[in-house]
Amino acid sequence: MTSNPFQFSSAQIAASVLSADFARLGEEIADVDRGGADFLHLDILDGHFAPNISFGPAVTAAIRRVTRAFLDVHLMISEPERYAPDFLKAGADGLTFHVEAVADAVQTARRLRQMGCRHLGVTLNPATAVEAIYPAMEEADHVLVMSVVPGFSGQKFMPEVLPKVQAVKKRLRAEQRLEIDGGIHEQTIRRAREAGVDWFVVASAIFDQKDRAAAIARLRKELGE
Ligand code: DX5
Ligand code: ZN
Repeated sequence: MTSNPFQFSSAQIAASVLSADFARLGEEIADVDRGGADFLHLDILDGHFAPNISFGPAVTAAIRRVTRAFLDVHLMISEPERYAPDFLKAGADGLTFHVEAVADAVQTARRLRQMGCRHLGVTLNPATAVEAIYPAMEEADHVLVMSVVPGFSGQKFMPEVLPKVQAVKKRLRAEQRLEIDGGIHEQTIRRAREAGVDWFVVASAIFDQKDRAAAIARLRKELGE
């Protein structure tokens, strides 16, 4: 795995540990590392912004101790500014917050930068109009388009978000990256790539498979790169 996916312009696959066996997290991470995932995606769910609870800074710090991979922390939480310092201290490389979770996304983006966030992402739910992300994406290093409603892995891909992917892509600066999250598997990844996605978050289509290297190889084959 890489410590900086921004270095690459080719498609990158991020393994989301939400579908990993949490009792064996270190081994699971080593498995997807050996299996060819490009970086790790950590889904933080607070049971308030989204209807599920996952893990927080302590587990993030534990993951940091077992890998040098880029840790792409997806904050599906209320009050991201309140908890961002804890995740940065835990070793997060990137922090992504939801525009729906804050009053002023531009302000939040600037504050997260001041807190020391080096790789900043902004994201929006499937139901949110794409225009809502435009002001904050000027401040960000990457934009995440959600292709499921935040909460759980294993949900069905929502193709209706692809026009949002295309709209964001048109406005991205060359150094910015476009990420998609939710329902990405062998049957959906190519459509997302064609719409302009750079980074693909994948939980169940990797971790629910016995052979993770083969699963990642099949995804890459679909990308044709
Ligand atoms: C959804 C999370 C996703 C999720 C993806 O709340 O943000 O990262 O783990 O899971 P799959 O790849 O199974 O749709
Ligand atoms: Zn996610």
